[in-house]
Amino acid sequence: MASIYSSPNPVTVVCTLKPDGTTNLATVSWWTYLSYNPEMIAYAMAKTSYSGEMVRQNKKVVLTIPGGEIAKEVLGCGSITGRNTDKINKFNIKMQTLENSDIKVPLHSRVAIVCELKEFVEVGDHYLYICNVKEVYGNKNEEALFAFNGYSQIKTTND
Ligand SMILES: Cc1cc2nc3c(=O)[nH]c(=O)nc-3n(C[C@H](O)[C@H](O)[C@H](O)COP(=O)(O)O)c2cc1C
Repeated sequence: MASIYSSPNPVTVVCTLKPDGTTNLATVSWWTYLSYNPEMIAYAMAKTSYSGEMVRQNKKVVLTIPGGEIAKEVLGCGSITGRNTDKINKFNIKMQTLENSDIKVPLHSRVAIVCELKEFVEVGDHYLYICNVKEVYGNKNEEALFAFNGYSQIKTTND
C-alpha cells in the first residue's frame, strides 16, 4: 500500500457524540482540509464504523490532532470499535470540555476542529464526510502525533 511510502501519515482522533452524551474516539488518518472560505474539511471512514453511524445521526463531530502523551491510547482507539466498548474508560483517557461544543475531546490535543456534517459521499468501502468548520482550538504546547510505517506505529516526529 502507498501509505508505507507516504509515512509519516497524519493522525486525527475523530470525536463523536454517543446517545448517552459521552464521546466515542476513533483514530483516522484519511483527512484533509478542503476550503478556506467557507472553512471546510473532510475525512473518510469505513462504512461499518460506529463513529460514522454517530455523525450521520447527529451531524456533529470534532477532529483533534492528538498530543504526544497519548500515543498508545490513540493506537488503542484505532484498534477496537466503540459500538460496545467505552474507549475512554478502557484506555483511561483524560478528557476536556470545549467552550462551544457538547462533544468532549482528549485533554492532550494540539488542535480541536469543531465541525458540522454537511454531507457524506459513498467512496467504495468508505464514506467521505464533508464538514463545515465551526471553531478551532489550538494548543502549541502539545506535540502532534503522526502514523509511521503505514499506520502501525504512532509517535511524534521527534521520538
Ligand atoms: C493510525 C491509524 C489510522 C487509521 N485511519 C483510519 C481511517 O482513516 N479511516 C478509517 O475508517 N479507519 C481508520 N483507522 C481504523 C479505525 O480507527 C478503527 O476501525 C476503529 O475501530 C473505528 O472505531 P469506531 O467503530 O468506534 O468508529 C485507523 C487506525 C489507526 C491505528
